[in-house]
Amino acid sequence: MNSVRIELPDREYDILIGSDVELTLNSLRLSALGGVAVVVTNTVVAKLHLPRVLKSLEKLFKKIHVIELPDGEIHKNWDSLNRIFDSMLQWECDRKTVLFALGGGVIGDMTGFAAATYMRGIPFVQIPTTLLAQVDSSVGGKTAVNHPIGKNMIGAFYQPRLVVCDLNTLETLPARELSAGLAEVIKYGPIADIAFMGWLESSMDAVLAKDRNALAHVVQRSCEIKALVVGQDEKETGLRAILNFGHTFGHAIEAGMGYGVWLHGEGVAAGMVMAAELSRRLGLIDEAFVRRLTTLIQRAGLPTKGPILDAADNAGRYLELMRIDKKSEGGEIRFVLIDGPGKAVVRSAPDALVRQVIDACCE
Ligand code: NAD
Ligand code: GLY
Repeated sequence: MNSVRIELPDREYDILIGSDVELTLNSLRLSALGGVAVVVTNTVVAKLHLPRVLKSLEKLFKKIHVIELPDGEIHKNWDSLNRIFDSMLQWECDRKTVLFALGGGVIGDMTGFAAATYMRGIPFVQIPTTLLAQVDSSVGGKTAVNHPIGKNMIGAFYQPRLVVCDLNTLETLPARELSAGLAEVIKYGPIADIAFMGWLESSMDAVLAKDRNALAHVVQRSCEIKALVVGQDEKETGLRAILNFGHTFGHAIEAGMGYGVWLHGEGVAAGMVMAAELSRRLGLIDEAFVRRLTTLIQRAGLPTKGPILDAADNAGRYLELMRIDKKSEGGEIRFVLIDGPGKAVVRSAPDALVRQVIDACCE
């Protein structure tokens, strides 16, 4: 088993990466048998992975409750959050209750937000079961639910006590979801580690075949890069925004299509191509690098063109949706752009140029 540490003042924690990772009192930082644990999961993941997690928690907690939410991005909302709060209040859960998020990014983000706000904050543990959640969403403490007007608009920064990435869970992950996770993996190359991009280019077949060593490296390297960034800028006052490469366009796609139609990773994939093309048109990178990135995204089984969101004024609709992005300042959209391979910059761009990019990159 490998581990990566997130170094934050007073709130450092480990990401454990391996197969058949066992939860222990030590890793949960419990000095004695815990009281109450609440596992939040969804109906799909519960069938596949809940029994094993319950078996391991039974040795560590006196009482365990389970909340099974409906599956899907469409349920990443206030109603699901209230179901968590209603159940926990009915069970008289106190501030020592430990919440466990068992699932992908949707469950992880919602459970984290519930943990941040239930009785003003209780401990929580991430057990991510998608590639996307293992390489990105379970790490770094961003928690949220969607609002019909914008993606992840209601949330908090709140760090877990532990993250457990059990590679076994990826065995049951459908190919489309594996690819969606790869979008968040691919992003780390152009923004921070060009050698990792090269490794992905030579290892993509093994990753898609779920080769265990390849997956272990993907999760490990992604978490290391994320840990470095989050350790320097937990609350996204600057550097952390680079992790949103492709997300400004991607969130517009997700919200514009209706949550759940395009997967988050698919929106990010097409969004990275758009952001790279915008970088090229601003003179930051050359056409060869845009082609290289586009090819890698395509090989991961991901879309490289954005959808048409509005037949009458597609670029206008993208711009409207992108202004709601959390990086926007005073209504001005801020894009994560590639400033040479392996280096990112956050800046605005003229609307006219963004329109040209959207026109060129959507079909
Ligand atoms: P998801 O949570 O919807 O999971 C994808 C699908 O896979 C779901 O149907 C789920 O039930 C199923 N699933 C989960 N684990 C499985 C397994 N082991 N086997 C079979 N099926 C399984 O989506 P996701 O891609 O994991 O996460 C996307 C969400 O993460 C978005 O809401 C996005 O905004 C968020 N996100 C958050 C951060 C962050 O920093 N907090 C970063 C990136 C993305
Ligand atoms: N997924 C982007 C971030 O955690 O900042």
